[in-house]
Amino acid sequence: MNAVIRAFTLRAIHEFGWRVVGFLDGFAGLIDKQFITLDEKQVFKIASQGGTILGTSNNVDPFEYYLPNSTSPIDVSDRVLAYIKELHIDALVTIGGDGTQHMAYRLFKLGVPVIGIPKTIDNDLGGTDQTFGFDTAVSIATEAIDRIQTTAESHHRIMLVEVMGRYAGWIALYSGLASGADIILIPEIPFSLERIKDQIDARVRDGHKYTLIVVSEGAREEGKDYSIMKMVKNSHDPIRLGGAAAQLGQRLEEETGIEARATVLGHLLRGGVPVSSDRILSTRYGAGAVDLVADKKFGHMVALRQGKIASATLEEATMALRLVTPDHELVARAKQVGIIFG
Ligand code: F6P
Repeated sequence: MNAVIRAFTLRAIHEFGWRVVGFLDGFAGLIDKQFITLDEKQVFKIASQGGTILGTSNNVDPFEYYLPNSTSPIDVSDRVLAYIKELHIDALVTIGGDGTQHMAYRLFKLGVPVIGIPKTIDNDLGGTDQTFGFDTAVSIATEAIDRIQTTAESHHRIMLVEVMGRYAGWIALYSGLASGADIILIPEIPFSLERIKDQIDARVRDGHKYTLIVVSEGAREEGKDYSIMKMVKNSHDPIRLGGAAAQLGQRLEEETGIEARATVLGHLLRGGVPVSSDRILSTRYGAGAVDLVADKKFGHMVALRQGKIASATLEEATMALRLVTPDHELVARAKQVGIIFG
């Protein structure tokens, strides 16, 4: 986030002399008129900092806004439109994933000059080949799985590692492939307990002393539903997934007699220092978004297409989640090296 904020601000100021302000805590700041002016000094050194200097909120929606202590939402988009006029905002840059860009698109349809920038570790936003944040999450997951693999080896266990990604298996696919997992379970390919057991049996017969399974939090058994950890209030998508690895681990332990342990990486994947490829992508996105503002390509999102910075309409970006397809090249390559998808 910070690398995007930095790149956008520096280019906007240097090349165009624009004034850049950052709303605090995402849409919450836009609703409450809480913002700070961003200048060179403030953003110059922030590319290596994880998180965002502006703060964020993932449960504030101007179209379904909950006043304190209220249980029924109200539409405050009129207030947002009035503020945008009052503050003389010529362009609103929305940095976020599916939920953020949905709201951005709705604001655009009401006349707000919006430009989107695709951010989510899940990598599931339409219209772009990659969102920023994904590479960092994959790299943290890969390192953690590598560490678990060494303990799995010593203890002769079934080790399951659950990674985030919501309804998309990108993080599990990439980190599972990078760390040499034996089984990768993703939401897009529902698994069968029997097939997993067969694979574990085959590994035991071949003399392998452990099995490493990377489980996407959205992984589910054929014909079954997602593992839901909790429902959160006032969110664009109130479902919080979790528990898939623990549940599967327990069943595998019961059925195979081999000890199983599950580790949930959770929010570890969203924090810390961003990897260099993410900082570079964020810089390209931030500086590239300035072009869209200058060209008044409102209702568009900066995007990555075949390695080049391009743009997509917000409609395209939010039409459907970009999921792993069962015939994706990486799925095929993983299978070719013996990984199964359950
Ligand atoms: O969309 C990003 C994400 O990190 C998902 O991978 C995960 O399911 C969800 O957000 C967790 O949300 P929260 O931080 O509200 O628990």
